[in-house]
Amino acid sequence: MPDTYLIDLVCSSTGAAVPWERLQGLSAAGRPLVCRYDLPRVAASVDRDAIAARPRGMWRWRELLPLPGGHAPVSLGEGDTPLLATPRLARELGVRRLWLKDEAGEPTGSFKARGISAAVTMALHLGARAFAVPSAGNAGGALAAYAARAGVPAHVFVPRDTPEVNQREVLLFGAQLHRIDGLIHDCGRVVAEQREALGAFDLSTLKEPYRLEGKKTMGLELLEQLGWRVPDVVVYPTGGGTGLIGVHAAIAAAAALGWLDEARQPRFVAVQASGCAPIVRAFERGQDEAALFEGAHTCASGLRVPKAVGDRMMLQILRSTGGTAIAIDDDTLMDATRELARSEGINACPEAGACIAAIRRLRASGWLRADDEVVTFNTGAGTKYVEQLPPLS
Ligand SMILES: Cc1ncc(COP(=O)(O)O)c(C=O)c1O
Repeated sequence: MPDTYLIDLVCSSTGAAVPWERLQGLSAAGRPLVCRYDLPRVAASVDRDAIAARPRGMWRWRELLPLPGGHAPVSLGEGDTPLLATPRLARELGVRRLWLKDEAGEPTGSFKARGISAAVTMALHLGARAFAVPSAGNAGGALAAYAARAGVPAHVFVPRDTPEVNQREVLLFGAQLHRIDGLIHDCGRVVAEQREALGAFDLSTLKEPYRLEGKKTMGLELLEQLGWRVPDVVVYPTGGGTGLIGVHAAIAAAAALGWLDEARQPRFVAVQASGCAPIVRAFERGQDEAALFEGAHTCASGLRVPKAVGDRMMLQILRSTGGTAIAIDDDTLMDATRELARSEGINACPEAGACIAAIRRLRASGWLRADDEVVTFNTGAGTKYVEQLPPLS
C-alpha cells in the first residue's frame, strides 16, 4: 500500500489547493477544505470486495481515508453499525422501503465518533498535542473519549444549557469542560479566541478537513449494506452538516470508483427543528448561504446549530440532488421518537425522531412517493436523552 492516496485539500468554494501534510483549518477564502484523493489509483489497488473482507470498523476503508499507511488510528472500534429494515414503520408511513442506519452503538453513543476518530488521528499525526471543540452535545463527549484514548488534553466548550448527560460525559473522560452563556456558534468564537493560549487545535465542524472523512464511512457502509444500490432518498438530521455532506461525498467517491450499480445521487433531505432551521429557511428563500437563526431553541440538541460553516455545501447538495429541507416542531419530533421506539424497538435520539416526522410530512405532501426507497439515520443513542424517557407514574 502506498503512503497515502490523499493528494491535497481543496477549498470547497474556490477550488484552491493546499497541502495536507500540515495542520490546516479553513481555506484562505474562509470556507471548508475538502480532501482530494487519487481515485484512479485507489481503483487500481483495491476493490469493494477486498474491503468487505477486512476486519470490521470504519478504518477498513483505509484507501479512502487520509491517514498514511503504517500508522495506527486513534480508535475505539467505531463504524460498521447495523442498517435496520423498519417494515412496520414503512407501511405506516406509506413508503416502499425504509431503512434506518443505527449509530446508537458507536463509542460514546453517537455518529460523532467517526468524525472525531478521523480528525484526532490526523491532527496528532500532523503535530497537534491538544484539542478544543465547540459542541451542541455529542461531539464534545466523543472528543473527550478519543483524547483520553490518545492520552492528550481536550477542551470542550458547550452552551451552559446543554443536556446534562453530555456535559458530565466530558468530565467522565477527564476533559476540561467550559460552559458558555450562549449557543454553539458563541462557543465556536470562544474556541477561536482561546485556542492559542490553550495550545489546542480547533476541531470545530468543517473548520478542519477530517471530521468529514470519518462521516463519509457511514455512506460507504450504507452502500455496501444495500448491495451497492443507491436509495431514492436520504433523510438526515442536520446541524453543522458533516453527516449529510459526508454521505453525499461517499456516494460520489463510490460512483467515481465504479463501485455502484448505477452512478447517481439520492435526493437529500435536510431535517431541522422549527426552533432552529437556518438551512430550511435559506433553502426556501432560494439563498446560497444561511443567515444566523436568532433565538435558536429545540430539545433536539444536536440540531441547535444556528449558523453552520458548511451552509453553502449543504444547500448545494440539496439543490443538485433534487432534495429538500424541512423543519419539525419539538412536540411532533418527540412523538415520532416514541413511535419509533414502540413500533420498531429502536430507542432513538430526538434528532432521528425529527427524520421520521419529516418522512410522514413529505409523504403526505406527495414529495415522497409510495415506491421510494428511503434511508434515514439514528445519529445517537436515545439512552443519552434521559429526559425523553417516560416518567414513572
Ligand atoms: C444526535 C445528533 N444528530 C444530528 C446532529 C447533527 O449533525 P451534523 O452537525 O453533522 O449536521 C448532531 C450534532 O450534534 C447530533 O448530536
